[in-house]
Amino acid sequence: MACALPHHLFFFFFFFFFFLFLLPFSTVAQTNGTVAVGTSITANTKDTPWLSPSGVFAFGFKPLQEKNLFLLSIWYHQIPDQTVVWYGNDGIPISTGSKLDLTPDRGLVLSDSQGNELWKSQFIVDSVAYGFMNDTGNFVLVRSDSFNLWESFKYPTDTMLPTQIMESGGVIFSRLSETNFSQGRFQFRLLLDGNLVLNTRDITTNFAYDAYYISGTFDPNNSSNSGYQVIFNDAGFMYILRRNNQRFDLTPQQLLFPTTEYYHRATLNFDGVFTQYYHPKSFDSSTKWTPIWSAPDNICLNINGEEGSGACGFNSICTLNEYKRPECKCPPGCFKKKLPLSNGRQDRSVNGQAFLKFRKSDLPLVRPPPPPIPKPKKKEGTLIVVGSDGKLDALVENDMEALNDWKTLERFLMVGIWCIQEDPSLRPTMRKVTQMLEGVVEVGLPPSPSQFSYTN
Ligand SMILES: *[C@@H]1O[C@H](CO)[C@@H](O)[C@H](O)[C@H]1NC(C)=O
Ligand SMILES: *[C@@H]1O[C@H](CO)[C@@H](O)[C@H](O)[C@H]1NC(C)=O
Ligand SMILES: *[C@@H]1O[C@H](CO)[C@@H](O)[C@H](O)[C@H]1NC(C)=O
Ligand SMILES: *[C@@H]1O[C@H](CO)[C@@H](O)[C@H](O)[C@H]1NC(C)=O
Ligand SMILES: *[C@@H]1O[C@H](CO)[C@@H](O)[C@H](O)[C@H]1NC(C)=O
Repeated sequence: MACALPHHLFFFFFFFFFFLFLLPFSTVAQTNGTVAVGTSITANTKDTPWLSPSGVFAFGFKPLQEKNLFLLSIWYHQIPDQTVVWYGNDGIPISTGSKLDLTPDRGLVLSDSQGNELWKSQFIVDSVAYGFMNDTGNFVLVRSDSFNLWESFKYPTDTMLPTQIMESGGVIFSRLSETNFSQGRFQFRLLLDGNLVLNTRDITTNFAYDAYYISGTFDPNNSSNSGYQVIFNDAGFMYILRRNNQRFDLTPQQLLFPTTEYYHRATLNFDGVFTQYYHPKSFDSSTKWTPIWSAPDNICLNINGEEGSGACGFNSICTLNEYKRPECKCPPGCFKKKLPLSNGRQDRSVNGQAFLKFRKSDLPLVRPPPPPIPKPKKKEGTLIVVGSDGKLDALVENDMEALNDWKTLERFLMVGIWCIQEDPSLRPTMRKVTQMLEGVVEVGLPPSPSQFSYTN
Protein backbone atom coordinates (compact mmCIF):
# COMPACT_ATOMS: atom_id res chain seq x y z
CA MET A 1 0.00 0.00 0.00
CA ALA A 2 1.26 3.44 -0.88
CA CYS A 3 2.08 5.74 1.92
CA ALA A 4 -0.22 8.72 2.31
CA LEU A 5 0.39 11.95 4.16
CA PRO A 6 -2.57 13.51 6.01
CA HIS A 7 -3.49 16.95 4.70
CA HIS A 8 -2.55 18.97 7.76
CA LEU A 9 0.86 17.32 7.85
CA PHE A 10 1.36 18.10 4.19
CA PHE A 11 0.74 21.79 4.85
CA PHE A 12 2.97 21.67 7.87
CA PHE A 13 5.84 20.33 5.78
CA PHE A 14 5.11 22.74 2.98
CA PHE A 15 5.38 25.74 5.25
CA PHE A 16 8.29 24.27 7.11
CA PHE A 17 10.30 23.95 3.91
CA PHE A 18 9.05 27.26 2.65
CA PHE A 19 10.47 29.03 5.67
CA LEU A 20 13.58 26.93 5.83
CA PHE A 21 14.67 27.35 2.23
CA LEU A 22 12.79 30.11 0.50
CA LEU A 23 12.88 32.78 3.13
CA PRO A 24 16.66 33.16 3.41
CA PHE A 25 16.91 33.45 -0.37
CA SER A 26 14.20 36.05 -0.55
CA THR A 27 16.01 38.24 1.98
CA VAL A 28 19.24 38.22 -0.01
CA ALA A 29 17.63 38.42 -3.44
CA GLN A 30 17.85 42.22 -3.33
CA THR A 31 21.63 42.20 -3.69
CA ASN A 32 24.06 41.13 -6.34
CA GLY A 33 27.02 42.29 -4.28
CA THR A 34 27.45 45.55 -6.18
CA VAL A 35 27.47 48.86 -4.28
CA ALA A 36 26.94 51.95 -6.43
CA VAL A 37 29.13 55.04 -5.98
CA GLY A 38 27.23 57.60 -3.91
CA THR A 39 25.72 54.94 -1.63
CA SER A 40 26.11 55.37 2.11
CA ILE A 41 25.14 53.49 5.26
CA THR A 42 24.64 54.90 8.71
CA ALA A 43 25.54 53.28 12.02
CA ASN A 44 22.16 52.47 13.54
CA THR A 45 20.08 49.37 14.06
CA LYS A 46 17.94 49.92 10.93
CA ASP A 47 20.37 50.23 7.99
CA THR A 48 21.13 46.90 6.35
CA PRO A 49 24.79 46.12 5.60
CA TRP A 50 26.15 45.53 2.08
CA LEU A 51 25.79 41.81 1.42
CA SER A 52 27.72 39.49 -0.88
CA PRO A 53 25.62 37.84 -3.65
CA SER A 54 24.97 34.68 -1.59
CA GLY A 55 24.53 36.69 1.62
CA VAL A 56 27.36 34.83 3.36
CA PHE A 57 29.38 38.01 4.07
CA ALA A 58 28.23 41.45 5.10
CA PHE A 59 30.11 44.76 5.12
CA GLY A 60 28.91 47.61 7.30
CA PHE A 61 28.36 48.56 10.92
CA LYS A 62 28.16 45.55 13.20
CA PRO A 63 26.45 46.33 16.53
CA LEU A 64 28.70 45.65 19.52
CA GLN A 65 27.62 44.45 22.93
CA GLU A 66 27.90 47.96 24.34
CA LYS A 67 24.79 49.92 23.44
CA ASN A 68 25.09 52.50 20.62
CA LEU A 69 28.52 51.27 19.54
CA PHE A 70 29.33 49.67 16.19
CA LEU A 71 32.35 48.16 14.47
CA LEU A 72 33.04 49.02 10.82
CA SER A 73 33.70 45.48 9.64
CA ILE A 74 33.16 42.49 7.37
CA TRP A 75 31.59 39.46 9.01
CA TYR A 76 30.06 36.05 8.33
CA HIS A 77 26.45 37.20 8.19
CA GLN A 78 24.47 33.94 8.25
CA ILE A 79 26.12 31.77 10.87
CA PRO A 80 25.06 32.21 14.53
CA ASP A 81 28.53 33.43 15.51
CA GLN A 82 28.53 36.34 12.98
CA THR A 83 32.31 36.08 13.07
CA VAL A 84 34.18 39.30 12.24
CA VAL A 85 36.91 38.73 9.61
CA TRP A 86 38.05 42.30 8.88
CA TYR A 87 37.71 45.71 10.54
CA GLY A 88 38.36 49.32 9.60
CA ASN A 89 39.04 52.45 11.67
CA ASP A 90 41.87 50.56 13.47
CA GLY A 91 39.24 48.51 15.27
CA ILE A 92 37.98 51.53 17.20
CA PRO A 93 34.21 51.34 17.86
CA ILE A 94 31.97 53.94 16.23
CA SER A 95 28.92 55.56 17.79
CA THR A 96 25.38 55.78 16.43
CA GLY A 97 24.95 58.23 13.57
CA SER A 98 28.39 57.74 12.03
CA LYS A 99 28.31 57.32 8.27
CA LEU A 100 30.21 55.35 5.62
CA ASP A 101 30.20 56.85 2.10
CA LEU A 102 31.32 55.21 -1.11
CA THR A 103 32.84 58.17 -2.98
CA PRO A 104 34.19 58.16 -6.56
CA ASP A 105 37.48 59.91 -5.72
CA ARG A 106 38.42 58.74 -2.23
CA GLY A 107 36.81 55.35 -1.98
CA LEU A 108 35.29 54.53 1.40
CA VAL A 109 35.09 57.45 3.82
CA LEU A 110 33.92 57.07 7.40
CA SER A 111 32.77 60.13 9.33
CA ASP A 112 31.12 60.69 12.69
CA SER A 113 27.67 62.19 13.17
CA GLN A 114 29.20 65.73 13.13
CA GLY A 115 30.80 65.03 9.78
CA ASN A 116 34.40 64.73 11.03
CA GLU A 117 36.37 62.25 8.96
CA LEU A 118 37.47 59.20 11.02
CA TRP A 119 38.93 56.80 8.46
CA LYS A 120 39.21 56.17 4.73
CA SER A 121 40.39 53.43 2.39
CA GLN A 122 44.00 54.16 1.47
CA PHE A 123 45.80 55.04 -1.74
CA ILE A 124 42.93 55.74 -4.11
CA VAL A 125 44.22 58.04 -6.86
CA ASP A 126 41.80 56.95 -9.56
CA SER A 127 38.08 57.09 -9.92
CA VAL A 128 36.00 54.32 -8.41
CA ALA A 129 33.22 52.88 -10.61
CA TYR A 130 31.58 50.71 -7.95
CA GLY A 131 32.18 48.63 -4.84
CA PHE A 132 31.68 44.88 -4.66
CA MET A 133 31.23 42.57 -1.66
CA ASN A 134 32.57 39.29 -3.01
CA ASP A 135 31.36 35.90 -1.70
CA THR A 136 35.00 35.24 -0.75
CA GLY A 137 34.76 37.89 1.98
CA ASN A 138 36.82 40.41 -0.02
CA PHE A 139 35.33 43.90 -0.39
CA VAL A 140 36.77 45.58 -3.49
CA LEU A 141 36.64 49.04 -5.04
CA VAL A 142 36.65 48.64 -8.81
CA ARG A 143 37.66 51.00 -11.66
CA SER A 144 35.52 51.16 -14.83
CA ASP A 145 37.94 48.79 -16.62
CA SER A 146 37.41 46.19 -13.81
CA PHE A 147 40.80 46.88 -12.18
CA ASN A 148 40.67 46.54 -8.35
CA LEU A 149 41.78 49.87 -6.84
CA TRP A 150 41.41 48.72 -3.22
CA GLU A 151 40.69 45.34 -1.56
CA SER A 152 40.07 44.52 2.07
CA PHE A 153 42.17 41.37 1.41
CA LYS A 154 45.21 43.64 0.83
CA TYR A 155 44.74 45.24 4.28
CA PRO A 156 44.13 42.21 6.49
CA THR A 157 43.48 42.70 10.20
CA ASP A 158 43.63 39.48 12.26
CA THR A 159 42.14 36.97 9.81
CA MET A 160 42.88 35.36 6.43
CA LEU A 161 40.24 33.67 4.26
CA PRO A 162 40.42 31.18 1.36
CA THR A 163 41.64 32.90 -1.89
CA GLN A 164 43.59 35.45 0.19
CA ILE A 165 47.34 35.87 -0.35
CA MET A 166 49.95 37.53 1.87
CA GLU A 167 52.97 38.90 0.00
CA SER A 168 56.43 39.08 1.59
CA GLY A 169 56.57 41.99 4.01
CA GLY A 170 52.92 41.37 4.92
CA VAL A 171 51.71 41.40 8.52
CA ILE A 172 48.57 40.70 10.52
CA PHE A 173 48.09 41.75 14.14
CA SER A 174 46.15 40.02 16.89
CA ARG A 175 43.45 42.08 18.48
CA LEU A 176 43.95 43.22 22.08
CA SER A 177 41.30 40.92 23.57
CA GLU A 178 38.27 38.96 22.43
CA THR A 179 36.18 42.14 22.42
CA ASN A 180 38.77 44.91 21.92
CA PHE A 181 39.74 45.09 18.24
CA SER A 182 42.73 47.45 18.67
CA GLN A 183 46.09 46.00 17.62
CA GLY A 184 47.41 43.64 20.28
CA ARG A 185 50.74 42.11 21.33
CA PHE A 186 51.14 39.47 18.60
CA GLN A 187 52.11 39.52 14.91
CA PHE A 188 52.04 37.03 12.03
CA ARG A 189 54.58 38.22 9.43
CA LEU A 190 56.03 36.97 6.16
CA LEU A 191 59.55 38.42 6.40
CA LEU A 192 61.39 39.70 3.33
CA ASP A 193 63.93 36.86 3.75
CA GLY A 194 61.16 34.28 3.18
CA ASN A 195 60.48 33.12 6.74
CA LEU A 196 56.98 33.16 8.16
CA VAL A 197 57.13 34.10 11.84
CA LEU A 198 54.95 34.70 14.86
CA ASN A 199 56.34 37.21 17.33
CA THR A 200 55.35 39.38 20.27
CA ARG A 201 55.92 43.09 20.12
CA ASP A 202 56.08 46.05 22.46
CA ILE A 203 52.68 47.70 22.08
CA THR A 204 53.95 51.22 22.69
CA THR A 205 57.09 51.15 20.49
CA ASN A 206 56.06 48.37 18.04
CA PHE A 207 59.50 46.82 18.71
CA ALA A 208 59.34 43.18 17.53
CA TYR A 209 60.67 40.61 20.02
CA ASP A 210 62.13 37.23 19.06
CA ALA A 211 59.88 34.93 17.05
CA TYR A 212 58.08 32.09 18.87
CA TYR A 213 57.31 30.32 15.59
CA ILE A 214 59.59 30.24 12.51
CA SER A 215 58.64 28.35 9.36
CA GLY A 216 62.28 27.85 8.29
CA THR A 217 61.51 28.83 4.69
CA PHE A 218 64.62 30.98 4.25
CA ASP A 219 67.62 29.58 2.40
CA PRO A 220 70.58 31.96 2.77
CA ASN A 221 72.54 30.06 0.06
CA ASN A 222 69.89 30.01 -2.63
CA SER A 223 67.05 32.53 -2.57
CA SER A 224 64.98 30.48 -5.02
CA ASN A 225 64.30 28.13 -2.10
CA SER A 226 62.99 30.98 0.07
CA GLY A 227 59.31 31.69 0.58
CA TYR A 228 57.61 34.79 -0.85
CA GLN A 229 53.85 34.30 -0.45
CA VAL A 230 51.49 32.84 2.15
CA ILE A 231 48.62 31.38 0.15
CA PHE A 232 45.21 30.35 1.49
CA ASN A 233 43.78 28.65 -1.57
CA ASP A 234 40.13 28.21 -2.49
CA ALA A 235 40.30 24.54 -1.47
CA GLY A 236 41.11 25.59 2.11
CA PHE A 237 44.85 24.80 2.13
CA MET A 238 47.38 27.24 3.56
CA TYR A 239 50.96 27.03 2.42
CA ILE A 240 54.07 29.12 1.87
CA LEU A 241 55.01 29.36 -1.79
CA ARG A 242 58.76 29.31 -2.42
CA ARG A 243 60.25 31.24 -5.34
CA ASN A 244 60.95 27.95 -7.09
CA ASN A 245 57.18 27.24 -6.93
CA GLN A 246 57.51 24.51 -4.31
CA ARG A 247 55.04 24.48 -1.43
CA PHE A 248 55.72 24.45 2.27
CA ASP A 249 52.46 23.12 3.72
CA LEU A 250 50.87 24.76 6.72
CA THR A 251 47.51 22.96 6.55
CA PRO A 252 47.95 19.18 6.87
CA GLN A 253 47.62 17.47 3.47
CA GLN A 254 44.79 15.17 4.53
CA LEU A 255 42.25 18.00 4.91
CA LEU A 256 38.84 16.44 5.51
CA PHE A 257 36.76 19.58 5.35
CA PRO A 258 36.23 20.64 1.70
CA THR A 259 35.35 24.30 1.09
CA THR A 260 32.26 23.16 -0.81
CA GLU A 261 30.76 22.10 2.53
CA TYR A 262 32.70 24.09 5.10
CA TYR A 263 33.64 27.71 5.69
CA HIS A 264 37.28 28.26 6.56
CA ARG A 265 39.19 31.05 8.24
CA ALA A 266 42.62 31.46 9.83
CA THR A 267 42.95 33.92 12.68
CA LEU A 268 45.79 35.20 14.82
CA ASN A 269 43.92 34.93 18.13
CA PHE A 270 44.27 37.64 20.74
CA ASP A 271 46.37 35.21 22.84
CA GLY A 272 48.99 34.78 20.09
CA VAL A 273 47.96 31.37 18.71
CA PHE A 274 47.44 31.30 14.94
CA THR A 275 44.62 28.85 14.12
CA GLN A 276 42.88 27.65 10.96
CA TYR A 277 39.22 26.79 11.65
CA TYR A 278 36.33 25.18 9.77
CA HIS A 279 32.58 25.64 10.23
CA PRO A 280 29.90 23.52 8.46
CA LYS A 281 27.86 25.48 5.92
CA SER A 282 24.75 23.72 7.18
CA PHE A 283 24.45 24.53 10.84
CA ASP A 284 22.19 24.90 13.81
CA SER A 285 22.40 27.38 16.65
CA SER A 286 25.08 25.39 18.47
CA THR A 287 27.51 24.91 15.55
CA LYS A 288 30.92 26.38 16.27
CA TRP A 289 34.27 26.96 14.58
CA THR A 290 36.60 23.99 15.11
CA PRO A 291 40.42 24.18 14.82
CA ILE A 292 42.20 22.25 12.04
CA TRP A 293 45.78 23.21 12.92
CA SER A 294 47.52 25.92 14.87
CA ALA A 295 50.94 27.41 15.52
CA PRO A 296 52.99 27.37 17.68
CA ASP A 297 52.79 23.90 19.21
CA ASN A 298 52.93 25.11 22.78
CA ILE A 299 52.78 28.86 23.21
CA CYS A 300 53.52 28.63 26.95
CA LEU A 301 56.91 27.11 26.17
CA ASN A 302 57.61 28.62 22.74
CA ILE A 303 57.47 32.20 24.02
CA ASN A 304 60.46 31.77 26.27
CA GLY A 305 60.36 35.26 27.69
CA GLU A 306 64.02 36.10 27.17
CA GLU A 307 62.53 39.28 25.77
CA GLY A 308 59.09 40.64 26.52
CA SER A 309 56.99 39.09 29.22
CA GLY A 310 56.05 35.56 28.14
CA ALA A 311 52.80 34.34 26.62
CA CYS A 312 50.57 35.63 29.39
CA GLY A 313 52.22 38.94 30.19
CA PHE A 314 53.65 39.78 33.58
CA ASN A 315 52.45 38.15 36.81
CA SER A 316 50.63 35.22 35.21
CA ILE A 317 51.15 31.50 34.85
CA CYS A 318 50.47 29.93 31.45
CA THR A 319 48.88 26.51 30.92
CA LEU A 320 47.82 25.02 27.59
CA ASN A 321 44.20 23.97 27.02
CA GLU A 322 42.92 21.22 24.70
CA TYR A 323 42.85 23.59 21.69
CA LYS A 324 46.51 24.56 22.24
CA ARG A 325 45.32 27.94 23.50
CA PRO A 326 46.95 29.40 26.61
CA GLU A 327 45.09 29.92 29.84
CA CYS A 328 46.54 32.58 32.06
CA LYS A 329 46.16 32.39 35.83
CA CYS A 330 47.47 34.34 38.77
CA PRO A 331 50.25 32.61 40.66
CA PRO A 332 48.74 30.91 43.73
CA GLY A 333 48.50 33.22 46.74
CA CYS A 334 50.92 35.98 45.67
CA PHE A 335 48.43 38.49 44.29
CA LYS A 336 49.93 41.41 46.20
CA LYS A 337 53.23 41.25 44.33
CA LYS A 338 55.12 44.39 43.46
CA LEU A 339 57.89 42.97 41.35
CA PRO A 340 56.74 41.52 38.07
CA LEU A 341 56.81 37.77 37.59
CA SER A 342 57.70 37.27 33.94
CA ASN A 343 57.43 34.17 31.80
CA GLY A 344 55.34 32.15 34.25
CA ARG A 345 54.31 28.77 32.86
CA GLN A 346 53.29 25.34 33.99
CA ASP A 347 54.16 22.31 31.91
CA ARG A 348 55.64 18.85 32.51
CA SER A 349 58.57 19.63 30.26
CA VAL A 350 59.60 22.98 31.74
CA ASN A 351 63.34 22.73 32.09
CA GLY A 352 64.17 24.83 35.08
CA GLN A 353 63.01 26.02 38.45
CA ALA A 354 61.30 29.07 39.79
CA PHE A 355 61.73 30.12 43.39
CA LEU A 356 58.79 31.95 44.80
CA LYS A 357 59.36 33.46 48.19
CA PHE A 358 56.23 34.03 50.26
CA ARG A 359 55.72 35.51 53.67
CA LYS A 360 54.54 32.68 55.84
CA SER A 361 51.12 34.20 56.42
CA ASP A 362 50.58 34.54 52.67
CA LEU A 363 51.07 30.88 51.82
CA PRO A 364 48.24 29.50 49.74
CA LEU A 365 45.80 27.47 51.82
CA VAL A 366 45.63 24.61 49.36
CA ARG A 367 48.98 23.76 47.87
CA PRO A 368 49.07 22.09 44.44
CA PRO A 369 51.02 18.81 44.36
CA PRO A 370 54.64 19.54 43.42
CA PRO A 371 55.16 19.04 39.68
CA PRO A 372 57.94 16.66 38.60
CA ILE A 373 61.01 18.81 38.01
CA PRO A 374 63.46 17.39 35.48
CA LYS A 375 67.14 18.17 35.92
CA PRO A 376 68.05 21.43 34.19
CA LYS A 377 70.28 20.82 31.18
CA LYS A 378 71.70 24.27 30.90
CA LYS A 379 71.25 27.53 32.69
CA GLU A 380 67.68 28.09 31.59
CA GLY A 381 66.12 28.32 35.00
CA THR A 382 64.56 31.58 35.98
CA LEU A 383 65.08 33.04 39.40
CA ILE A 384 62.03 34.93 40.40
CA VAL A 385 61.69 36.84 43.61
CA VAL A 386 58.19 37.77 44.58
CA GLY A 387 57.52 39.97 47.53
CA SER A 388 54.23 40.09 49.30
CA ASP A 389 54.51 43.72 50.40
CA GLY A 390 57.53 45.52 47.41
CA LYS A 391 59.94 46.12 51.77
CA LEU A 392 63.18 44.27 51.15
CA ASP A 393 63.46 42.89 54.70
CA ALA A 394 60.27 40.95 54.15
CA LEU A 395 61.87 39.31 51.15
CA VAL A 396 64.94 38.17 53.02
CA GLU A 397 63.40 37.37 56.39
CA ASN A 398 65.66 34.98 58.31
CA ASP A 399 68.13 34.91 55.46
CA MET A 400 71.20 35.89 57.49
CA GLU A 401 73.57 35.97 54.56
CA ALA A 402 71.37 38.41 52.67
CA LEU A 403 70.74 40.52 55.75
CA ASN A 404 74.46 40.78 56.37
CA ASP A 405 75.06 42.36 53.01
CA TRP A 406 72.11 44.65 52.75
CA LYS A 407 73.60 47.07 50.23
CA THR A 408 74.62 44.27 47.88
CA LEU A 409 71.15 42.76 47.94
CA GLU A 410 69.60 46.11 47.14
CA ARG A 411 72.03 46.59 44.25
CA PHE A 412 71.35 43.10 42.85
CA LEU A 413 67.61 43.65 42.95
CA MET A 414 67.87 46.99 41.17
CA VAL A 415 70.09 45.47 38.45
CA GLY A 416 67.50 42.71 38.11
CA ILE A 417 64.76 45.24 37.57
CA TRP A 418 66.85 47.08 34.96
CA CYS A 419 67.23 43.79 33.07
CA ILE A 420 63.49 43.05 32.85
CA GLN A 421 62.46 46.41 31.41
CA GLU A 422 59.83 45.77 28.76
CA ASP A 423 61.48 48.34 26.46
CA PRO A 424 64.75 46.60 25.47
CA SER A 425 66.50 49.90 24.76
CA LEU A 426 66.38 50.65 28.49
CA ARG A 427 68.11 47.40 29.46
CA PRO A 428 71.83 47.70 30.26
CA THR A 429 74.50 45.83 28.31
CA MET A 430 76.06 42.73 29.87
CA ARG A 431 79.28 44.71 30.40
CA LYS A 432 77.36 47.39 32.27
CA VAL A 433 75.55 44.71 34.28
CA THR A 434 78.83 43.15 35.34
CA GLN A 435 80.12 46.54 36.43
CA MET A 436 76.88 47.24 38.29
CA LEU A 437 77.03 43.90 40.11
CA GLU A 438 80.66 44.45 41.04
CA GLY A 439 79.78 47.86 42.34
CA VAL A 440 82.14 49.59 39.90
CA VAL A 441 79.37 51.82 38.58
CA GLU A 442 76.43 53.36 40.37
CA VAL A 443 73.04 51.64 39.88
CA GLY A 444 70.32 54.20 39.26
CA LEU A 445 66.78 53.73 40.53
CA PRO A 446 65.09 51.76 37.74
CA PRO A 447 61.71 52.76 36.28
CA SER A 448 58.80 50.38 36.78
CA PRO A 449 59.15 47.54 34.28
CA SER A 450 55.39 47.23 33.91
CA GLN A 451 52.30 48.79 35.37
CA PHE A 452 53.36 47.35 38.72
CA SER A 453 55.26 50.00 40.54
CA TYR A 454 58.64 49.59 42.16
CA THR A 455 58.59 51.14 45.57
CA ASN A 456 61.35 51.42 48.12
C1 LIG B 1 23.96 44.46 -9.99
O1 LIG B 1 22.73 45.15 -10.10
C2 LIG B 1 22.86 46.49 -10.56
C3 LIG B 1 21.47 47.10 -10.61
O2 LIG B 1 20.72 46.71 -9.52
C4 LIG B 1 23.47 46.51 -11.96
O3 LIG B 1 23.66 47.85 -12.37
C5 LIG B 1 24.81 45.79 -11.92
O4 LIG B 1 25.33 45.69 -13.22
C6 LIG B 1 24.65 44.39 -11.34
N1 LIG B 1 25.98 43.81 -11.20
C7 LIG B 1 26.27 42.59 -11.57
C8 LIG B 1 27.69 42.15 -11.33
O5 LIG B 1 25.46 41.84 -12.06
C1 LIG C 1 35.23 37.34 -6.54
O1 LIG C 1 36.36 36.59 -6.16
C2 LIG C 1 36.70 35.53 -7.04
C3 LIG C 1 37.84 34.76 -6.41
O2 LIG C 1 38.92 35.60 -6.13
C4 LIG C 1 37.09 36.12 -8.38
O3 LIG C 1 37.40 35.09 -9.28
C5 LIG C 1 35.92 36.93 -8.91
O4 LIG C 1 36.30 37.56 -10.12
C6 LIG C 1 35.50 37.98 -7.90
N1 LIG C 1 34.32 38.62 -8.39
C7 LIG C 1 34.29 39.92 -8.71
C8 LIG C 1 33.01 40.43 -9.30
O5 LIG C 1 35.23 40.65 -8.52
C1 LIG D 1 40.94 48.87 23.77
O1 LIG D 1 42.17 48.94 24.45
C2 LIG D 1 42.86 50.16 24.29
C3 LIG D 1 44.22 50.04 24.93
O2 LIG D 1 44.11 49.59 26.25
C4 LIG D 1 42.03 51.27 24.91
O3 LIG D 1 42.68 52.50 24.72
C5 LIG D 1 40.68 51.30 24.23
O4 LIG D 1 39.86 52.25 24.85
C6 LIG D 1 40.01 49.95 24.30
N1 LIG D 1 38.83 49.98 23.49
C7 LIG D 1 37.66 49.58 23.94
C8 LIG D 1 36.53 49.64 23.00
O5 LIG D 1 37.51 49.15 25.08
C1 LIG E 1 74.63 27.06 3.11
O1 LIG E 1 76.00 26.87 2.75
C2 LIG E 1 76.84 26.65 3.85
C3 LIG E 1 78.28 26.61 3.34
O2 LIG E 1 78.34 26.08 2.03
C4 LIG E 1 76.43 25.35 4.53
O3 LIG E 1 77.25 25.11 5.64
C5 LIG E 1 75.00 25.47 4.99
O4 LIG E 1 74.54 24.24 5.54
C6 LIG E 1 74.10 25.84 3.83
N1 LIG E 1 72.76 26.11 4.35
C7 LIG E 1 71.67 25.57 3.83
C8 LIG E 1 70.38 25.96 4.46
O5 LIG E 1 71.69 24.79 2.90
C1 LIG F 1 69.03 26.82 -6.20
O1 LIG F 1 67.97 25.88 -5.97
C2 LIG F 1 67.29 25.47 -7.15
C3 LIG F 1 66.18 24.55 -6.74
O2 LIG F 1 65.31 25.21 -5.91
C4 LIG F 1 68.26 24.78 -8.09
O3 LIG F 1 67.60 24.43 -9.27
C5 LIG F 1 69.41 25.72 -8.40
O4 LIG F 1 70.38 25.03 -9.18
C6 LIG F 1 70.07 26.20 -7.11
N1 LIG F 1 71.08 27.19 -7.42
C7 LIG F 1 72.32 27.08 -6.99
C8 LIG F 1 73.25 28.19 -7.38
O5 LIG F 1 72.67 26.14 -6.29
